[in-house]
Amino acid sequence: MTYAAGIIGVGCYLPEKTLTNQDLEKMVDTSDAWIIERTGIRTRHIAAPSQATSDLSYEAALRALADAKTKPEELDLIIVATETPDYKYPSTACLLQAKLGAKNAACFDLSAGCSGFVYALGIGSQSIVSGLYKKILLVGAETLSRIINWTDRNTCVLFGDGAGAAVLGRVEEGYGVLAVDLGADGTGGEHLIQPGGGSRNPASHATVDAHDHTIHMNGREVFKFATRRMPNACKTILQKAGMTIDDVTLLIPHQANRRIIDNAINRLKIDRERVWVNIDRHGNMSAACIPVSLTEAQEAGCLHKGDNVMLVAFGAGLTWAGALVKWAK
Ligand code: UT7
Repeated sequence: MTYAAGIIGVGCYLPEKTLTNQDLEKMVDTSDAWIIERTGIRTRHIAAPSQATSDLSYEAALRALADAKTKPEELDLIIVATETPDYKYPSTACLLQAKLGAKNAACFDLSAGCSGFVYALGIGSQSIVSGLYKKILLVGAETLSRIINWTDRNTCVLFGDGAGAAVLGRVEEGYGVLAVDLGADGTGGEHLIQPGGGSRNPASHATVDAHDHTIHMNGREVFKFATRRMPNACKTILQKAGMTIDDVTLLIPHQANRRIIDNAINRLKIDRERVWVNIDRHGNMSAACIPVSLTEAQEAGCLHKGDNVMLVAFGAGLTWAGALVKWAK
């Protein structure tokens, strides 16, 4: 016996403080015009000093659980997709479990860069399909402001903080997660890396002085990877689902750069009105982009029962991930 697995609730949380392009002009040699033209970003959220990733996750999770009419004790599993956990260990998922009182849930964090939430959706949904679990909490959450080199204009203008969550559960046959494509090309790992603090380069005064605990990125290489992989992943998924791009009601791409999204729109030949874009307001929140977008799309009345929603992302690893979900609520 197998079951259909789908999203039964979503929620998000964005920190109150915002950092505009004008603020960044005072910090590094950049301009509002350059940032808008090259990335599409205007402003991003920044967590308060007292807030860590589990705090953002908690707020998003409470909203998703309420939307799914699910109690924390009903959760069988919590997966937190993040590259900015509160600690190396224990996992942020365990910290979140304690805050929620979700005492029946198994917990782990998932590291797949900005593709993390869609990876969690792909893997988590299979645990429901197989009958192993009934209710799963997926979170994509980041406090990237803590790992940014605020003197590096190549990266500091790009990222923001935020959290999004979704509850997965059993849905009607024919609804929910219809097809998934997860992948990686580890040969590109060095293009997007936080080189310090792990077993290769343990924390030392030298690693701190060299900014090794911050994001190091070869933007052009990641850009090339993204423009190739995102449309390919969408095509693979459509093939698996036996659909065409015309069947997709809403495409939610990872929000890393407006030009990458525009490239995907052109390659896939999908109308702009069917593509969710919020990069102008939030910047790149890595694993949080897709669940925050899903929540905003639901709140804006853009998701209806039976809609085919395509989620697609790319990120550190380098990884890519896509999923087609028939909206079940
Ligand atoms: O979620 C996954 C994570 N990351 C990504 O997806 C990022 C993918 N890559 C990108 O989005 C783009 O490559 C960037 C936005 C990072 C950079 O845009 P680009 O058009 O590829 O610029 P570039 O790196 O080729 O740099 C062009 C110029 C350089 O100056 P020179 O060498 O031509 O004189 C940079 O130094 O723009 C300069 N530049 C800036 N100028 C003003 C780089 N950052 C800035 C800045 N303000 N913030």
